[in-house]
Amino acid sequence: MISVVVLISGSGSNLLSLLKKSENPLYPAKIVAVGSDKNAPGLEHAELYEVDTFVVSPKRFATKELWAETLLANVQHHQPDLVVLAGFMKVLPANFVSALKGKLINIHPSLLPEFKGAHAVRDALQAGATKTGVTIHYVDEGVDTGEIIVQSEVSIEPKDTEAVLHERIKKIEHELLASTVEQIAYKQLPALKL
Ligand code: GRF
Repeated sequence: MISVVVLISGSGSNLLSLLKKSENPLYPAKIVAVGSDKNAPGLEHAELYEVDTFVVSPKRFATKELWAETLLANVQHHQPDLVVLAGFMKVLPANFVSALKGKLINIHPSLLPEFKGAHAVRDALQAGATKTGVTIHYVDEGVDTGEIIVQSEVSIEPKDTEAVLHERIKKIEHELLASTVEQIAYKQLPALKL
């Protein structure tokens, strides 16, 4: 059984799907805490499942590094084997990333390296792409540049709006994230090439 800390900034649908999976005693990962940079609506899922939460707002800190130091201390307090960024919308500085190297993964709604950044779904639509997808990757110091663990394609339909397409992508994300965390727990995936 591995211990997982999940960081979110938004609605937390990926978090909720992991919480549901981990209700099954045969699922090999337990969510021990959920953190955020703000009072994100998704924190309610953690409260419902009686999982510890913490909020560390960058507004309280003079620099990004000082913020990240306190965020890291909150994460490490729970001694996780794995930290999942599931819609965490702040770029994490090097002091955070290097302390968790090989244990920190992100889920992103595109087939990286295509459409990096915070508006990947909108960017894919605007580019006229006919397919996009989901990527789960290790986090490095760049934005959506870390080593790719797994990807899954999602087709783009002519009538798709950003909201419709994002919902379709999220359905795939929920399954892919749960299966990837499971494989990490069973050590079935290659470790990060350090
Ligand atoms: C997901 O699409 C994820 O890939 C991206 O942010 C979104 C988070 O959605 N990084 P939710 O908060 O899990 O519903």
